[in-house]
Amino acid sequence: MINTFGLKEDFPIFKKKVNGKNIVYLDSTATTQKPKQVLDAIVEYYEGANANVHRSVYKLADEATELYENSRSNVADFIGAKSNEIVFTRNTTESLNLLSFTMGESLGRGDRILITSMEHHSNILPWMRFEQRGVKLEYVDLDDEGHLDLEDLKSKLKRETKIVSVTHQSNVLGTINPIDEIGKIVKDNGSTFIIDAAQSVPHMPFHMREEYDFVAFSGHKMLGPMGIGVLYGKYHLLEEMPPFNRGGEMIKDVDFHTVIFEDPPIKFEAGTPNVEGAVGLSAAIDYLKRIGMADVRRHEKHLTSITLKALDGLENLKYYGPRNVEERGGVIAFNVRDATNIKKNLESKNVKVDQLYHSHDIATFLDERNVYVRSGHHCAEPLMRTLGLSGTARASYYVYNGEDDVDAFIKSLGEIDVQR
Ligand SMILES: Cc1ncc(COP(=O)(O)O)c(C=O)c1O
Repeated sequence: MINTFGLKEDFPIFKKKVNGKNIVYLDSTATTQKPKQVLDAIVEYYEGANANVHRSVYKLADEATELYENSRSNVADFIGAKSNEIVFTRNTTESLNLLSFTMGESLGRGDRILITSMEHHSNILPWMRFEQRGVKLEYVDLDDEGHLDLEDLKSKLKRETKIVSVTHQSNVLGTINPIDEIGKIVKDNGSTFIIDAAQSVPHMPFHMREEYDFVAFSGHKMLGPMGIGVLYGKYHLLEEMPPFNRGGEMIKDVDFHTVIFEDPPIKFEAGTPNVEGAVGLSAAIDYLKRIGMADVRRHEKHLTSITLKALDGLENLKYYGPRNVEERGGVIAFNVRDATNIKKNLESKNVKVDQLYHSHDIATFLDERNVYVRSGHHCAEPLMRTLGLSGTARASYYVYNGEDDVDAFIKSLGEIDVQR
């Protein structure tokens, strides 16, 4: 079988053998593997340009600052934004919390926030905290296939709705939400529009539009290192916001009782930043640019399409989210009924089987075949409640996966006693 891109060679982790066999990594929604180009860029930075940024006049510090700021420009260019609209954070979670604790502070009794039933906890909990001060948090409903119900969105959008925050692509259902259409509706209502792009910027072409006020994503989900994230914000909105953390780096002038803050984005980057992370993320972006994001999307669509076709043939397996691959990304959440093999497997280890079909049991069964899928609630418990589930198993694809991985996944599933 071909590996559509044949990129595994670039990823040292795929040299790893477990029980003498290759690993099949199907958990890129949680975090992606890192190519040598990214690892090398980080080592080169430490070996050739390490110094603290923005605060010294010597040459090495200049070099480090230049690398850090070039990384910011590269991120900006990748999503069609301007450099001064890119704030480096730790991850998507921190980007959304930054918004909650800065622009969110003006919210008060009677205001409303609208999110959706398919959000990751990191786009729920930063908004839930406002309920204590009388802000109403509402959720847009989903239809049976896991699309957002746009009529429900319109009906819940009120004059008092100050913030609408929506995931671009669900990390469970794979649903790709029509953010341009939603953005237009939201902006016509005068609300602030926030996009959780943790699962979209890494997987498809993404270009900034006037409707988007804020966009959050994580470096580690797009081949970059852990600990570096991005918050895009329209410059005038960033200017109006108070700082998040306070300390070194983010000031123009400090007197005993007064301070003048730096301009955005530095205003939001207190303390020594993650220069290594920014450099690694920039190398990851270069890697993705070389492939081309349209091809990344095309590749994942192909793998998803052949997977869904194979899963359709398994009678006791149910997967969630849209059937049409045009409407979904390469993440496939599923559950299995009547899996006698799993029961036998657990009993052979003296595990008492009272929840035969738990997603962890499926993931364990696949793990024993070196196929690594995630299981559980995927940090989306309100979605699980909406679906009436305790959890699902979940396979997800990225640029390094090929048809060989799909085959291994389907073959292993076939070894569960799923009736055909
Ligand atoms: C849609 C979505 N939003 C937010 C997050 C949180 O990302 P991070 O853990 O990098 O902050 C995730 C992580 O899986 C996600 O899938």
